[in-house]
Amino acid sequence: MKIDALKTFKQRSEKITCLTAYDASFASVFDKCGVDIVLVGDSLGNVIKGNENTLGVSMNDMLYHTQAVAKGTNQALLISDMSYQSYTSAKQTLENAKCLMSAGAQMVKFEGGSEHESSFKILQDNNIPVCGHLGLQPQSVVEMGGYKVQGKDESDAQRILEDAKALEGWGVKTIVLECIPAKLGKKISQSLNIPTIGIGAGVDCDGQVLVSYDMLGITQNPPKFVKNFLTSGSITSATDDFIQAVKNQTFPTDKHSY
Ligand code: KIV
Repeated sequence: MKIDALKTFKQRSEKITCLTAYDASFASVFDKCGVDIVLVGDSLGNVIKGNENTLGVSMNDMLYHTQAVAKGTNQALLISDMSYQSYTSAKQTLENAKCLMSAGAQMVKFEGGSEHESSFKILQDNNIPVCGHLGLQPQSVVEMGGYKVQGKDESDAQRILEDAKALEGWGVKTIVLECIPAKLGKKISQSLNIPTIGIGAGVDCDGQVLVSYDMLGITQNPPKFVKNFLTSGSITSATDDFIQAVKNQTFPTDKHSY
C-alpha cells in the first residue's frame, strides 16, 4: 500500500486494518489476506523474547525482524518500531530510522509527543515517513505506573489531543492511539486530517491494530481490548474475520473499549 492511500482511507471512511508480524511467514499470511498495514512492533519483546515489557528490545532486534517481515510483505504497508532509547536525540533518531528503512520498513514508528519535536522534524526534513504513538506508551510503562488507561482526566486528555495535533503539523502520516477512552479516541480522530489507528481506543478511530499473537489467542490473560479471532478454523480465516470485523465496525465493541 502506498503511504498516500492512508489519507484516502480516511476521506472514504474506510477503516484501516493493521496486525503485527515478526517473521516472513506470518507477514505473508496477513499480507495475502489483505491486511492494510503490517507492523513490526517492539511488542516482540513480549511475544517473541518472553519479556515482561518492551524495554529489552534493541535496534538490532528491530532490524533483524524487519528484514524478515519485509520478505513476506508485498501489498501491505510495512511500519517498524524504533526501540527503547533509540530516538533520544535528532541525530540518533535519523541514523536509526535510516537503518530501519534500509532493512525494508516503509515508515517508522516511535512513542511520545512534543518532547520529541526535534526527532519528528528531522525525519520530516529527510522525507522519512513517521507513525506516531500516543496514549499508553509501553516504553514508558515505568513512568506511567503500569499498563493503565491514559487520558481519563480532562487535562491529560487535552495534552494527548494537543500532542496529536502537533504530530500532524510535523508531517506524521498516522498515529497509533493506545488505551484511551473511546470518547477521546473519537475526538482525536475527528480533529485530525491524518488517520488514527486504535488499540483499546474505541471503534471510532480510523483503523484498528492488534498484536497478532493476541488476535490468535496465544497470549495468556490479554488486556480487555483484545479479541481472540481464532476460535475455530485457521489462521487465515481468523485474519479474514479480523479484517472484516474492523472494516464493518463490529470490532471493537464496548466490551473491548474504555
Ligand atoms: O509494539 C507493538 O506491537 C505496538 C502495537 C501495540 C501498536 O506498538
